[in-house]
Amino acid sequence: MSDLIYRPGLEGVIAGETAISTIEGGLRYRGYAIEDLAANTSFDEVAYLVLHGELPTGEQLTAFRSRLSAAAKVDDAIIATLRSIPSDVPMMDVMRTGASMLAHWDPQVADNSHDANLAKAERLLAQLPVIMAARHRITNGQEPVAADPDLSFSANVLYMLHGEKPNEKHIQAMDVSLILYAEHEFNASAFTSRVICSTLSDIHSSITGAIGALKGPLHGGANEAVMEVLAEVGSPDKAEAWVRNALANKVKIMGFGHRVYKTGDPRAKYLKSLCAELAADVGREDMEQMANKIEEIVTGEKGLPPNLDWPSARLYCYMGLPIPLYTPLFVVSRVTGWSAHVIEQHDNNRIIRPRANYTGEGLREVIAIGSRA
Ligand code: ACO
Repeated sequence: MSDLIYRPGLEGVIAGETAISTIEGGLRYRGYAIEDLAANTSFDEVAYLVLHGELPTGEQLTAFRSRLSAAAKVDDAIIATLRSIPSDVPMMDVMRTGASMLAHWDPQVADNSHDANLAKAERLLAQLPVIMAARHRITNGQEPVAADPDLSFSANVLYMLHGEKPNEKHIQAMDVSLILYAEHEFNASAFTSRVICSTLSDIHSSITGAIGALKGPLHGGANEAVMEVLAEVGSPDKAEAWVRNALANKVKIMGFGHRVYKTGDPRAKYLKSLCAELAADVGREDMEQMANKIEEIVTGEKGLPPNLDWPSARLYCYMGLPIPLYTPLFVVSRVTGWSAHVIEQHDNNRIIRPRANYTGEGLREVIAIGSRA
């Protein structure tokens, strides 16, 4: 074992190859900087890019959107199940169940070819928002609203949730947030999806597992946990004392720190001004002041810059979205990245099977049961 490398949490370990995204020189999807994509494209174009490898032409985008529209519905049996799941079950658990259920109605479920994987990825991208919105409306005593084929992906997400056409600013904000959430190299959930499909299991199993990995508060679940921090702090004048006390007690402050970004998460930097703009629109400058104070102290005292979930949570809050939807919104975007990883893994597969450093007992002999102490 002495020649094998061990790093706790696999920190700094290269665990595979990918052409989907890199964090070297800033975050880039398929060679495009996220800042460029967020400023100049829609989420639909980025989803196409992540899945297909190139930005779409106008014609390709139209065809992609119509394939998504055609797939943006789920079987009545799935809606019936969403109605039957107890109303207090967390949304992320329902998303996980939803991804798994979608497999049972997918016509290509057992086909792991490149083309079938792409087709299934597009269906998952279209269907997961349907499940999220339907479950949200059902638990609020409302009927699900069907997707509108004339709307973009982000507009449809908001339309299916609220049942009314969203305003342009909210569509744009949703677009930016979904673009920033779409893909991120070998993060815990993407790695989970690759481990699962490396056994030649299917894309629905991989996405189901990835959702399970994402929901933890050290990963995607942090965007909801951030709201608990802000609620607990309460107001800008209480921020300093709260943070100093939390740091002194070694409390992990959600929305800060990152395994690979030690000097700052470029996605968080990009979202900051949009957050301030939306806060001003809804008169929540106090929340921005509080967040900025917390950020100043955590960064100054601990050298920990905020990650994407820190501004994302506030952005969704200013858009009037309920907190239990924040991590599911991460899912409806990140399914593009996860799917691209599954496709890449299946296209050039070798089972992922690392080793462990054994820390247990040395060799022992079995003692007859009657003689054991
Ligand atoms: N608040 C306070 N201290 C922190 C935080 C934090 N958010 N994050 C790290 N630290 C401290 C650790 O306690 C540790 O301190 P020590 O050296 O004094 O013991 C040091 O910084 C190093 O932290 P690790 O936990 O070893 O960092 P690691 O790379 O293992 O973890 C992680 C990264 C999980 C993101 C961590 O920073 C964290 O828990 N952050 C809060 C959860 C969060 O916001 N997750 C979202 C990640 S981004 C995403 O999924 C989109």
